[in-house]
Formats: sequence, structure tokens, C-alpha cells
Amino acid sequence: MSTWANLGLQDSASPLMEQLIFFHDHALLILVMITFLVGYLMFMLFFNSYINRFLLHGQLIEMIWTILPAIILLFIALPSLRLLYLLDEINEPSVTLKSIGHQWYWSYEYSDFNNIEFDSYMIPTNELSNDGFRLLDVDNRVVLPMNSQIRILVTAADVIHSWTIPALGVKVDGTPGRLNQTNFFINRPGLFYGQCSEICGANHSFMPIVIESVPVNYFIKWITNNMNS
Ligand code: CUA
Repeated sequence: MSTWANLGLQDSASPLMEQLIFFHDHALLILVMITFLVGYLMFMLFFNSYINRFLLHGQLIEMIWTILPAIILLFIALPSLRLLYLLDEINEPSVTLKSIGHQWYWSYEYSDFNNIEFDSYMIPTNELSNDGFRLLDVDNRVVLPMNSQIRILVTAADVIHSWTIPALGVKVDGTPGRLNQTNFFINRPGLFYGQCSEICGANHSFMPIVIESVPVNYFIKWITNNMNS
């Protein structure tokens, strides 16, 4: 999760988020180079004293500074499209999770396993344990197996919500009457925190998401325990 004084992206916990971070760094580098070049040129304009009474046109330089930005944009657009289509791909998921946004909590359904379903509410500050995270911890976590392809179906029951987990690179709107899908692959165990990111009403800030990534055999134990109860 994001901690104090961390202004950048969180460490990735999935291959897609890793690629998103690479793309972010790539685009940022190009942006910094352009900003410095243009900034330097504009700054230096104040100090030059060149005058050329007969300068009317410069076809070559105009050609260069028209085509060059187009080529630079291509170097951003093509990797961006590659990532877009990679994010959209569903790679034979082994588990499907359905999450439904409500005002103001999430509920989950494991439709592959006897349709286990439960609600997931934020733990209020006054009920928080000493090792809990304020405004982020929930009473019922989403338990998911690591190292497996997971499909997530997102919808909502009342207004638009958004199921967002920064470390996994997942952000899907839950819209009433629609079913959106995406997928991810968690490559390490741990707790991954997320929040609703669609302004959905007074308690929008208080419907966090917690994913508990566990080894597959532990997940099977968890799911069988819940199917029996
Ligand atoms: Cu749900 Cu914002």
C-alpha cells in the first residue's frame, strides 16, 4: 500500500501494473526532455540580440519542427496502444469474482463456488484495532489466490462506483444495469488496498477494498470452509 511521503506509484503486485509503471516512466522521460528543451529555448530568447531584416521564411526548420513532434508522439502512442490491448485481454481465468458497488460498501460473489456472497464494510475509526489502517481496512476481505489469472466482474446496485486497486493496476467502473469485466494476475502474497474512485455520494471516501492474496492451497481451504458454513 501507499505509505507516508510516497508520491509516486505503488510497487506493482501484477505484471500489468509493472508494464503501466514502465510506460509511465517512459512517457515522463520524454516529457521532461521536451520541457527542458522548450524551457531553455524560451529562457534564452530574453538574452539574444539577433536581428535579420531579410529573414522571411525557413522552410527546412519548419519541416523539421513539424515532423519531429509527430514522430515523438508515435513513440508514446504505440506503447500506449500495446498496453491498452494487453489490459483488455482475458487470459483463461481460473477464478471469477463479482463485486457490486453499493452506497456505501462493496459486496462480493464467488459464483464459481456455490455462489459464496458477503458484504465488505469499512471498519470505523473507533472500532479499529491498533494495527489497522484508518479508512482502509474492511470487516470482510476479498481472499484471492496468487499466481492465478483472476477475472473480475464489476457492477453497481444504485449509483456509479469504481473498483480500484492501484497495486494491481485495476480500475473498473461499476454501473447500474451494466456488467464490466477486467482481469489481473497477483504475483505475490499480501494485502492490497484500494478505494472507490467514482464520486458516488456522501460516504464515497468510506468504501475501501482489501484484497488478501494467498497461496492457492490456502485459498482452496478458505473457499471450502465458506462453502460448508
Ligand atoms: Cu462508491 Cu465512490
